[in-house]
Amino acid sequence: MRLKNKVAVITGAAQGIGAATAKKMAAEGACVVVCGRKVREHIDAVVKEITDAGGEALGYICDVTVPEQIVAMRDDVLAKKGRIDILVNNAGVVMDAQLVKMTEEQFDTVIDVNLKGTYNMARALVDTMVAQGSGVILNASSVVGVYGNFGQTNYAATKFGVIGFVKTWSKELAKKGIRVNAVAPGYIHTPMLKDVPEKVLTALAEKVPMKRLGNAEEIANVYAFLASDEASYINGAVIEVTGGLTL
Ligand SMILES: NC(=O)c1ccc[n+]([C@@H]2O[C@H](COP(=O)([O-])OP(=O)(O)OC[C@H]3O[C@@H](n4cnc5c(N)ncnc54)[C@H](O)[C@@H]3O)[C@@H](O)[C@H]2O)c1
Repeated sequence: MRLKNKVAVITGAAQGIGAATAKKMAAEGACVVVCGRKVREHIDAVVKEITDAGGEALGYICDVTVPEQIVAMRDDVLAKKGRIDILVNNAGVVMDAQLVKMTEEQFDTVIDVNLKGTYNMARALVDTMVAQGSGVILNASSVVGVYGNFGQTNYAATKFGVIGFVKTWSKELAKKGIRVNAVAPGYIHTPMLKDVPEKVLTALAEKVPMKRLGNAEEIANVYAFLASDEASYINGAVIEVTGGLTL
């Protein structure tokens, strides 16, 4: 159990990679804080699955664009558990359009959730980690945040941006005992890809040397490793988990 006695806050954890990460970290012994944006039943379902399996989980409505919800979640977790060891900034959205068609609303929404939401969470939790003298912050980047992508001006900017956070925070916070890293997945089977036509998914899989998309558990495994003491000398890194997509 690599995360025994740790408290892990995971945003966007009601489905997809976030839910898989919550389950994995709970299986590794962490008390996981399952943060979802809106739908209580989805959060409760993840919490129930974890507790039924013998793990420990707390569920919160916590929209990363709403500072009051973040602070309320943090204060309640601290009241109940007394510490926060791990933050996984997983929440993210896509609103794709080519530059020539992108609206201000599409641009602003994606920036607000993926970039400012990541900042909001880290800003609210960092004092706790500094006071503890330990912590791990993990940001969800993407292969799109390293190489860019057709139709994703807004998303690419945020996924490059959270790497900028990692490079900066890892320099600022290392001396406080806090490690900061990013995971940059390739194409992973989750609800985020639900609007991508099957034909396109098949073509994407064809580009991967392993000839398949990834699954959420394969990303969750990397977050769990990076959060653990086994990754004690990994700081400021961007770990690409793509099945070799970009080779
Ligand atoms: N699926 C992929 O291929 C892929 C690839 C690279 C990176 N990622 C990144 O991984 C992360 C998880 O994506 P996923 O594939 O599991 O997608 P997903 O759509 O299944 O999950 C995203 C989660 O974020 C939540 N969310 C959205 N807005 C929010 C807000 N304002 N506050 C709190 N939560 C909010 C959603 O409710 C959802 O639960 C995202 O940051 C995504 O950009 C995904």
